[in-house]
Amino acid sequence: MDADQGNGVSELFKAQSHLYKHIYYFIESMSLKCAVQLGIPDIIHKNNHPTTLPQLVSALNIPVSKANFLQRLMRILVHSGVFDITKICEDQEGGGGYVLTSSSRLLLKDSPANLSPAVLAVLDPVLLSPWFSLGQWIQGEERTPFETYHGTSFWEYGKRNIKFNNNLNEAMASDSQVASLVVKEHKEIFESVDSLVDVGGGTGTLARSIADAYPHMKCTVVDLPQVVANLPESENLKFVGGDMFKSIPSADAIIMKSVLLHWSDEDCIKILKRCREAIPSTDDGGKLVLVEMVINDRKDEHELTKTRLFVDMEMMLICNGRGRSEKEWKKLFLEAGFSHYKITATSGLNYIIEVYP
Ligand SMILES: C[S@@+](CC[C@H](N)C(=O)[O-])C[C@H]1O[C@@H](n2cnc3c(N)ncnc32)[C@H](O)[C@@H]1O
Repeated sequence: MDADQGNGVSELFKAQSHLYKHIYYFIESMSLKCAVQLGIPDIIHKNNHPTTLPQLVSALNIPVSKANFLQRLMRILVHSGVFDITKICEDQEGGGGYVLTSSSRLLLKDSPANLSPAVLAVLDPVLLSPWFSLGQWIQGEERTPFETYHGTSFWEYGKRNIKFNNNLNEAMASDSQVASLVVKEHKEIFESVDSLVDVGGGTGTLARSIADAYPHMKCTVVDLPQVVANLPESENLKFVGGDMFKSIPSADAIIMKSVLLHWSDEDCIKILKRCREAIPSTDDGGKLVLVEMVINDRKDEHELTKTRLFVDMEMMLICNGRGRSEKEWKKLFLEAGFSHYKITATSGLNYIIEVYP
């Protein structure tokens, strides 16, 4: 075999294994979901030291004959970095004990930023099934694959299925716990703000943490009436049921996290115009703070970009929303009557974008 042929064969094998990896990508997601459903992160956490396979089998109360399957589930999750495995004693052969990684620490029930509800919501059959309609949707007339599959829009489905809606709200709340840390890291953004409205603020996780961190600030969460009904208020936090397309209460500043991501450009411009009407001029301290993804092609953000592109596709699937590049954001801001903006990177998926009238 000459050198060229050799290279050709090795390229072919590489391409084959690259494709197989992509064919099987979903297995990482479904294995993660299974670990969350079984409560494995909490079992390892409660054990307080590396957890052996027999300890895990016993804690899960599963037949010993299934131990081998559990070991294989754990092996893929260790490989993907959800868990780690450590030697328990030096002379031990094989075995070892499972320990948490920073990722699985975010799946603990009592973690302030528990992402387990997000795992369960995104990997719920209601959101997974529309993927099977992607091709049919792209050639058809419906606005989203969600509609092609379920025959109704994502928002209507949520209104009629309280449990599904509650799970999504819980998932967003856990995501907001992480965002709260980012917001606290950037105190300069809120220092001169006396009143703040969190538009599409869900059950108020982000607003509550801002209200606690800045007791002088009057915070209001605006969301759909069924989302904010009967939520506990405090001295400087209140909830208002409303429609952000119609009107937004006035304040020094407005914050929106992961809201515009869910809407088309046309709808975003409508929402941004309502925001612009609700805040004073830049000279009088008015601003809009967005916590949103910005899609870019920076080499040092290759992995983050991959995740952002996944989220962009999920938005396309469920609600005709999208991830946006800086250029696309700028176009929306200018069309909605804002004059300039400032983008601050965080170490996570989202950026903080301050937008000025
Ligand atoms: C993806 S969630 C984001 C929630 C929250 N900002 C967060 O990051 O946790 C979008 C929110 O927008 C709310 N929403 C949808 N349509 C709305 C409307 N017309 N007016 C006000 N809120 C709306 C939803 O109920 C939901 O809470």
